[in-house]
Amino acid sequence: MEIIQDLKVMPHWADTQRLAGRTIALVPTMGFFHSGHIDLMNHGREMADRVVVSLFVNPLQFGAGEDFEKYPRDFERDRQLAEEAGVDVLFIPRHEDLYPKDYQTYISVERVTQGLCGASRPGHFRGVATIVCKLFQLVKPHKAIFGLKDYQQVITIKQMVLDLNMDVEVIGRPTVREADGLALSSRNVYLSAEDRKAALSLFESLTVAQDRCRQGEWEAGSILAEATRILTRHPGNRIDYAKIVDPHTLKDLETINPRGILVLAVRVGQTRLIDNGLLEVN
Ligand code: PAJ
Repeated sequence: MEIIQDLKVMPHWADTQRLAGRTIALVPTMGFFHSGHIDLMNHGREMADRVVVSLFVNPLQFGAGEDFEKYPRDFERDRQLAEEAGVDVLFIPRHEDLYPKDYQTYISVERVTQGLCGASRPGHFRGVATIVCKLFQLVKPHKAIFGLKDYQQVITIKQMVLDLNMDVEVIGRPTVREADGLALSSRNVYLSAEDRKAALSLFESLTVAQDRCRQGEWEAGSILAEATRILTRHPGNRIDYAKIVDPHTLKDLETINPRGILVLAVRVGQTRLIDNGLLEVN
């Protein structure tokens, strides 16, 4: 596996691959890999001739008072895991090269970033869209692979690619979970033993909602009441949002006809967790 840091070397590598007729898949990450990240890398290997994983903890997508400083980092472990996953290039750009002093260009995707995490984390998706756009310029991928756990992020990137006529196929992969259902996340390391139990209520409320839907319940209000009840059984849980939204526009749905996404953001102790699941009415 090659490690590239230089912002001139990366696009040159990409040009060489493209000239040789090889396809490139990019998996953008902030590191501290878990099986969710590894699944994206494995999928990249299946989808393209070469896989690039970018590792950059992007300060632009963290709000004031969020966890940028203490975001978990372990480069040596990440390097080893990426190598084992058969990644061709680990791209680790430097902050000062990506955002030099005079930096002044940002990508703002509008409607789909206004609600949900966009409402609770102002500027977050502007930071995400900007870094992903820059990574696309540098890595020149044919395909870019993201996890559907960050559902609004995938919709935002798809909208950016559409609006800016970018020649990249954006692929969303299903959420990888622990055996008991907790969605894998680099932030799970923040959870205490008590939090870890309370965190399960996100998956529990998703599965109950999915069952209710399968049995023919199409009223969003009734499903949300049930989900809220499950989430608030733990006194340490604070719901940031729990909504049923249209899978494409992310607008609130009153009725599920025939599909909706239950999207959750819950503060479990000190840690904010997100999860989502597709609801389909039979
Ligand atoms: P990060 O949180 O490191 O996630 C990198 C990729 O892994 C994202 O596409 C995310 O959706 C995916 N992922 C996280 N948990 C997952 C899980 N349990 N199952 C499957 N995929 C999972 O998301 C980011 O970084 C950043 O916002 C980034 C896109 C890199 C821009 O900075």
